[in-house]
Amino acid sequence: MDAVDHNSFGATVTADKTITCKAAVAWGPGEPLVIQDVRVAAPQKMEVRIKILFTSICHTDLGAWKGENEAQRAYPRILGHEAAGIVESVGEGVEDIRKGDRVIPIFQGECGNCSCCKNQKTNLCLKFGVNPLKSVMLNDGKTRFSTKDGSPIFHFLNTSTFSEYTVVDSACVVKIDSDAPLEKMSLLSCGVSTGVGAAWNVADVQPGSSVAIFGLGAVGLAVAEGARVRGASKIIGVDINPTKFAKGRAVGITDFINPEDLEVPVHEKIGGMTEGGVDYSFECAGNLQVLREAFLSTHMGWGLTVLLGIHPSPMLLPLHPMEMFNGRQIIGSVFGGFKGKTQLPRFAQQCMCGTLNLDEFITHELPFDQINKAFQLLVDGKSLRCLLQL
Ligand code: APR
Ligand code: ZN
Ligand code: ZN
Repeated sequence: MDAVDHNSFGATVTADKTITCKAAVAWGPGEPLVIQDVRVAAPQKMEVRIKILFTSICHTDLGAWKGENEAQRAYPRILGHEAAGIVESVGEGVEDIRKGDRVIPIFQGECGNCSCCKNQKTNLCLKFGVNPLKSVMLNDGKTRFSTKDGSPIFHFLNTSTFSEYTVVDSACVVKIDSDAPLEKMSLLSCGVSTGVGAAWNVADVQPGSSVAIFGLGAVGLAVAEGARVRGASKIIGVDINPTKFAKGRAVGITDFINPEDLEVPVHEKIGGMTEGGVDYSFECAGNLQVLREAFLSTHMGWGLTVLLGIHPSPMLLPLHPMEMFNGRQIIGSVFGGFKGKTQLPRFAQQCMCGTLNLDEFITHELPFDQINKAFQLLVDGKSLRCLLQL
């Protein structure tokens, strides 16, 4: 029998360095997550095991949980990709991260060595980029999670944060300052970085410009906060759920549109409000028809649409090729264009010193074992981020 002790967090650590702890496991699409004991193996070469202290649910977890796209083919699986925690141990070869460091796991990794990582024009990574089909570790094609009887539990989006402990590749771990407030820092793991980065790094919103944001969840509101900080003069928020408008005002949205109140398409309304269209639009709803409206809402000749929403596959863009001759551009953005390991620490500092206001984004807090309730809050459109404390 393994020698057993208890580490400082109370989970059980066996002599072979496997930890037994609680995780929320997805067993099938739309089925309530099951809080159960899981075994978390020691980190292997260039891997890091993190004690997750805070995690929250992003719409992408919701899509995967419901089985809306290819992501949900591997069961049982530990979802979750927005979190913050403390390093419990590191595997062989990890030099930039140590036990005790405060860290943010990132689903869009940065290996530092591939052609994309070496190119300043992109934050994509050929090795640790987003791949919803990937459900095992790259090192050996195996999982680090297992049930008590040893059968595998699969990983999700390089991170799997709905667990007291998780193992991730060191390329997907960002070290932040030792005094960083982890509850807020978990927002940087996806939603806030994705939104603010889309405004700053991808669109490069200019002072005095006009912006339309479609979908006012945490991602859309983070775009608004980014545009506000950049000095955009008109920020139009579009959502079919008018309860989002109060929060929107707090992050600088100047005008609101509920498409369901209109007799004309949204782009016509926006064209009338802005002398022909906005400079930038952002699709943060994950809906193709919304993407089309966002595209047509920009000004011909220079308008730029940034796509942030995750769309169910396999659907194609609803655009006629000739529409591209009107000089509108469209671009997709992953993780707000941030190269996570190299650029996120500075972004975290900007958030800590008050450049950005993160207070509006955490609308609910619950203990981890109430994760299904937190899912329901997001499904019902009642929460932006519900912070789960482990
Ligand atoms: N028109 C306008 N707004 C819409 C529409 C629509 N047809 N459909 C949905 N919305 C709004 C919802 O009412 C909600 O306020 O889009 C918002 C989506 O917010 P959340 O569900 O909180 O999602 P969030 O976590 O912000 O993510 C937004 O970005 O990263 C991706 O996968 C993520 O596709 C998702 C998107
Ligand atoms: Zn996300
Ligand atoms: Zn890379």
